[in-house]
Amino acid sequence: MSRVRTIGGNWKLNLGPAEASKVATELVAAVVDRGDTRVTLFPTAISLTAVLEAVRGSGIHVGIQDVHTADSGAYTGANSATLARSAGATAALVGHSERRHVFGDSDATVHRKLIQCLDAGLLTTLCIGETLEQRDSAQTEAVLAEQLKSGFGELPPDRVATVTLAYEPVWAIGTGRTASPEMAQEAHAFVRAWLRQAYPDWVADDVCIQYGGSMKPANAAALLSCPDIDGGLVGGAALKAESFSAIILA
Ligand code: PGA
Repeated sequence: MSRVRTIGGNWKLNLGPAEASKVATELVAAVVDRGDTRVTLFPTAISLTAVLEAVRGSGIHVGIQDVHTADSGAYTGANSATLARSAGATAALVGHSERRHVFGDSDATVHRKLIQCLDAGLLTTLCIGETLEQRDSAQTEAVLAEQLKSGFGELPPDRVATVTLAYEPVWAIGTGRTASPEMAQEAHAFVRAWLRQAYPDWVADDVCIQYGGSMKPANAAALLSCPDIDGGLVGGAALKAESFSAIILA
């Protein structure tokens, strides 16, 4: 089993270049000894270069929060995986719930974005998760299975194994309401079992499954000690070096 424990900080539409650079610099100082944990920051595209500069030499990865389905062309306002890569990004998020629910990214769009990122050589995190309504009507597993199936499409096992998954129940994102470790572990175990029935065993063993949704220093250790929770994707608590480094070191 060679899954890499990964903690991501998703800054969403926050922190311009100066602020982002400050937080990134503080973070580098705070997490010198992070063992074998991979840390990735996802600033806004506008702050990408400033953050890359601030973390240079630290081993911290910097990624893009979303990409377009095309490399280049007449797509005003968009960013692409290849351009992010050429700017120095080494990672990407696709399928974040805000992309799905605020911007209307369909499962098919998320799949095309995933391919763009993998083709560009980015370490890619595919986000999945159910809404409260779906959980309350016992559809969680069906929703996760569909997001996994259409997200990966016909990708071969060796490419699936390079993807990081982030299980983020939509009702827990930015709400302060965290899934209990038992609830999160149950969903993660389902995701792992889904991978096991769809691909050779080593894929399920290798894929890092992050939990996301109001992760903070106070609940990180309990969540991260669950057998199928291999990391975290952190929003609000990643905006300050103090709380984000406490999660990384948890
Ligand atoms: P949150 O966001 O930690 O603020 O809930 C998580 C995410 O959106 O990835």
